Amino acid sequence: MNATFLAQKLLTSRREGHSLPQAFYKDQSIFDLEMEILFGGEWLFAGHDCEIPEPGDFMVHRIGNLESIVIRGEDGAVRAFHNACRHRGSRICKAEHGTANRLVCPYHQWTYNLDGRLLFARDMGPDFDPSHYSLKSIGCESAGGYIFVCYGEQPRDFSTVRSRIEPYMRPHRLEDAKVAWQSSIIENGNWKLVWENNRECYHCSGSHPELCRTFTDSPTVTGVENGESDSLLQTHWKRCEAAGLPSAFYLDPTGQYRVMRTPLLRDTESFTMSGRSASAKPLGGIREPQIGSMLLFHYPTTWNHLLVDHALSFQVMPIGPQETQVTTKWLVHKDAVEGIDYDLSTLTEVWTATNDQDRTLVEQNQLGVNSPAYEPGPYSPIHENGVSQFVDWYCTAMEARLGTGDLLAEAG
Ligand code: FES
Ligand SMILES: [Fe+2]
Repeated sequence: MNATFLAQKLLTSRREGHSLPQAFYKDQSIFDLEMEILFGGEWLFAGHDCEIPEPGDFMVHRIGNLESIVIRGEDGAVRAFHNACRHRGSRICKAEHGTANRLVCPYHQWTYNLDGRLLFARDMGPDFDPSHYSLKSIGCESAGGYIFVCYGEQPRDFSTVRSRIEPYMRPHRLEDAKVAWQSSIIENGNWKLVWENNRECYHCSGSHPELCRTFTDSPTVTGVENGESDSLLQTHWKRCEAAGLPSAFYLDPTGQYRVMRTPLLRDTESFTMSGRSASAKPLGGIREPQIGSMLLFHYPTTWNHLLVDHALSFQVMPIGPQETQVTTKWLVHKDAVEGIDYDLSTLTEVWTATNDQDRTLVEQNQLGVNSPAYEPGPYSPIHENGVSQFVDWYCTAMEARLGTGDLLAEAG
């Protein structure tokens, strides 16, 4: 059975409110299909504006066999191009980050402008028209200091996403931030198990002693209820919104992204062992320290915490059916000085430990899912409605991209 038929059949027969059939977590052909139709068509988090602040600054985004150069042009705009030369296809940028005046292919030195136009190609004859050989661009959008790229031929309109999430992010002014530290870890688990683990805090009290000093495991925070029944949330939102910080729960109707601001425990300020801010220079000059965390997730590649003193971005990069890279970036105010305004180990301690604990949970989950004894199990309606919501988004997105099921009917 080919992957399309297999995926359609399993999506049709899956039990809602339950984990997915085994093949979704371990089958290479379904993974390849996801890479092609889901990751190949959705908006993907690529990095932060502040990582490429000047014209010519670039970073390379890679996922599966897709690769792009995300570069700031002379006009200040960020663009993204397939990292493939228009001559005979060589990869242009090997480096993950850098600064360039021009993009020069290392093979035969075809040379491109920062906006992708071919400037120079040696000895191509009198009929050669360079204007036909610009680098191929892909979708590239920026919102609240986050850059998203889309490899699909017809990227979905991004303006709604931007208009919904940017007001929540703007007060943190991440364009005036810098990456103080980043880590990339490999989790030997399917990317959906990484997400399922992220979308609940049912496991937090048993596994995350450092995080639980400050982060609530309340299901109204991790879940997808709108917080109406939670008076703590209501009070927090009123106080933050009065201080000019949009805070109330918003879940996009497609379920792909959510923003909301949650209080931290006992009026703590930040994800540190003491609960106090790790950086003395608040992001965006925010004056009120007890604003909690602004939570943003955007499937399938990023979840985030924006705090008063630092921000954490997480990037999910599937590598194989049972292998996922998770990159975490800790952002502080660009003028904050290490050793004076912040101490790196104080800043990174809680989430370095939490990531490692989550890695173990995901890897153990994968090993159990691989067992012949595995069958989809029920999600807790109280603690795991966020997981259920993620899985529903995934199934709906896959079904939409696979078509209406006609192929399945034809296959009999
Ligand atoms: S492949 Fe790039 S210049 Fe030849
Ligand atoms: Fe966790």
